[in-house]
Amino acid sequence: MTEQEHLKWKSFWEDQAAVADPHQAVRGDRIMTPAVQSFHDRELIKLIDPQPEDRILDAGCGAGDQIILLGSLVARITAIDFSPAMVARCQARIAKEPNITAETTIEVGDVTGLPYEDNSFDRAISIAVQQYLNPEESDLMLTELGRVVKPGGVVVFHVKDLWSPTGVMITFGRWLRALIKGRPPLEYQYRTHWWYKKEARRIGKIAGSYAYGTWTPFMPKSLMAKIARWETKYRFLQNRWPHGKEYFIKVRVN
Ligand SMILES: C[S@@+](CC[C@H](N)C(=O)[O-])C[C@H]1O[C@@H](n2cnc3c(N)ncnc32)[C@H](O)[C@@H]1O
Repeated sequence: MTEQEHLKWKSFWEDQAAVADPHQAVRGDRIMTPAVQSFHDRELIKLIDPQPEDRILDAGCGAGDQIILLGSLVARITAIDFSPAMVARCQARIAKEPNITAETTIEVGDVTGLPYEDNSFDRAISIAVQQYLNPEESDLMLTELGRVVKPGGVVVFHVKDLWSPTGVMITFGRWLRALIKGRPPLEYQYRTHWWYKKEARRIGKIAGSYAYGTWTPFMPKSLMAKIARWETKYRFLQNRWPHGKEYFIKVRVN
C-alpha cells in the first residue's frame, strides 16, 4: 500500500464517521442479530481475559464498540484511531455511556507508531484494523503492540482470514476483476491466519484463537444469520474447520 492509499483509507474513515449507526459506521453493515453479536463479544472477552486493575490499549478504536465492551471490566482504557472524525465521534459516544467505569482516554494516532512508553499496558486489542494495513504496516503494528504491552501481557487482534469461503471467493473475484479491468479499487486485505500467526510469534506465543463466518458472498442475509447461529450453537468451526472470515488471535507477549 502506498502513502496515497494510506491517505485514501484515512479519508474513507473520516467519511464513515458521519454514518449514523455506530456498527454500520465501522463495519459497513448492521449487527447481524444481537444474540449472535453478544455471543461473539463473550468469546472476545474470554480471549482478552480482562482483569479489574488492567490498563488496556484499543488500537484502531473506531466508534468505540470495544471500549463499551470493556468499560466496566478494567481500570483504564486508552484508545487510538488515525481518523480525527472517528475519534471525535467515539469521544462523544463514550461520554454518554452510563456503564463505563474505566478511566478512558481516546486520541488521534497511528497504530504503526504508538505514542506510548514501552511496557505501558497489561493488554492490547486491535479489532478489524489490519485488513487496512499493508504487510509492512501490519508487522509494524504488531511490533508496536509487543513493545507497549508488558512481558506476560496479552495482545488480541482480529483479522480477515483468506482461507475462509468468503476470503477465497472475494480474493478470486478481485483477482479476476483486476485481470479484466486493470488495477482494482481500494479494498481491504484478506491474508491467511497462518501468515498473521507467523508474524505474531515475533512478539510472543500464540495463546488462543477464535474463528467464525463460514458463510459466502451472494447468500441471502437470512441464511447468513442462520449459519451464524448454527456456528455459535454447535461450535463445529472451532474444532474442525478453523477458517472463518473473522479470525481472532491471542498472543502472550514475551
Ligand atoms: C473496521 S474499523 C474497526 C473499529 C473498532 N476496532 C471496532 O472493532 O469496532 C477500523 C478502524 O481502524 C482505524 N484505522 C485504520 N488504519 C489505522 C491506522 N493506521 N492507525 C490507526 N487507526 C487506523 C480506522 O480509522 C477505523 O476506525
